[in-house]
Amino acid sequence: MTPALTVELGANSYPIHFPQSASEAIQWDFSEAAKTGRQSVLVTDTGVAAAQAEFLQKSFGAIPRLTMDAGEKTKSLEAFGRVQDFLAANKVTRQGVLWVVGGGVMGDLGGFAAASYLRGIDYIQVPTTLLAMVDSSVGGKTGINLAAGKNLVGAFHHPRAVYISTEFLTTLPAREFAAGMAEVIKYGLLGDAALFARLEKTVLHARHADLPAVIRRCCQLKVDIVRADERELATEGGRALLNLGHTFGHAIEQVTGYTAYLHGLMGAARLSEKLGLLPPADVARIEHVLAAHDLPVRLRSPLAVTELQAATARDKKNRADGVRFVVLSAIGAAATRAGIAPAQVEAVWRELGAV
Ligand SMILES: NC(=O)c1ccc[n+]([C@@H]2O[C@H](COP(=O)([O-])OP(=O)(O)OC[C@H]3O[C@@H](n4cnc5c(N)ncnc54)[C@H](O)[C@@H]3O)[C@@H](O)[C@H]2O)c1
Repeated sequence: MTPALTVELGANSYPIHFPQSASEAIQWDFSEAAKTGRQSVLVTDTGVAAAQAEFLQKSFGAIPRLTMDAGEKTKSLEAFGRVQDFLAANKVTRQGVLWVVGGGVMGDLGGFAAASYLRGIDYIQVPTTLLAMVDSSVGGKTGINLAAGKNLVGAFHHPRAVYISTEFLTTLPAREFAAGMAEVIKYGLLGDAALFARLEKTVLHARHADLPAVIRRCCQLKVDIVRADERELATEGGRALLNLGHTFGHAIEQVTGYTAYLHGLMGAARLSEKLGLLPPADVARIEHVLAAHDLPVRLRSPLAVTELQAATARDKKNRADGVRFVVLSAIGAAATRAGIAPAQVEAVWRELGAV
């Protein structure tokens, strides 16, 4: 069995459990809460409700449940209001617990609802996508989108516990699994060369025996980074390293109106090569691992360089000293860099297929 991991954050510490049977572990937690009179309610989305109906019924029985529409659009003010109304309609008190079952969208929305309802109640995350298991369920960032941009409203609010089980991944669409693998590969690139080497040898899939240990390793890497820089205030490195590839990825999302997903890792790798930090052979290794895990390594359509550059300049993560990129000084070692000449970034966009 994969041992639990404790996220040590003083009074906000919490466990990440990796149970053999998520249902059994959750039922136990759930009945303990009931014994002390703590009320539990559940929020999930339509995709999870359809794919994991049996699990939900078996684990949570007939507790009040709110099922939101699946998809990024649900990280909205309107959806946030619906969760608040649901909590209030069920008379959830300060001692209540909100169970959040789903991917990153549910985690961000449910976590933010828990952060603000009655000025903060407990929530427990049951991540059901690979991305949520390795990334969004760890670290306490919650939030919703505004028309002006993604994740512009939110709070830091850590869950009381997280239950991770690869059982859920057997119903996850292949594209969503691949999106999670991009994050797994990202952890290898930014902090663990051995993890990266493991991914070079083994193409992971939902039922792969190595997957629970790999997920746990990713959580550990994120926990270590978050503990050192919980509020992303470090001037160099710190939590910002988790954005490896995101500056490129978000620019593509913006230019395509959020219809194309790209992890941006090839952009980060090619930029690192241009800066003389990463040898071409390592860029080729990165390309190989991404392609082996069904991830794109070039733009799917030839987007305009000018639009991509403008979107990069608008990145919310930018600071007063300009666009900050996360670059690789080796496979397994990342750093933040500002002051990179736009011409170098433009050259990267062209190598990725922009015109
Ligand atoms: N808080 C953070 O630190 C953090 C970090 C990374 C990403 N995020 C956020 O996470 C979100 C993306 O999360 P995501 O990729 O998990 O997407 P998602 O939550 O939209 O889930 C993707 C789709 O998969 C479906 N699904 C989920 N689990 C399933 C299962 N087991 N079987 C079948 N279908 C299932 C969902 O219904 C949905 O349609 C973004 O909004 C992003 O901003 C947050």
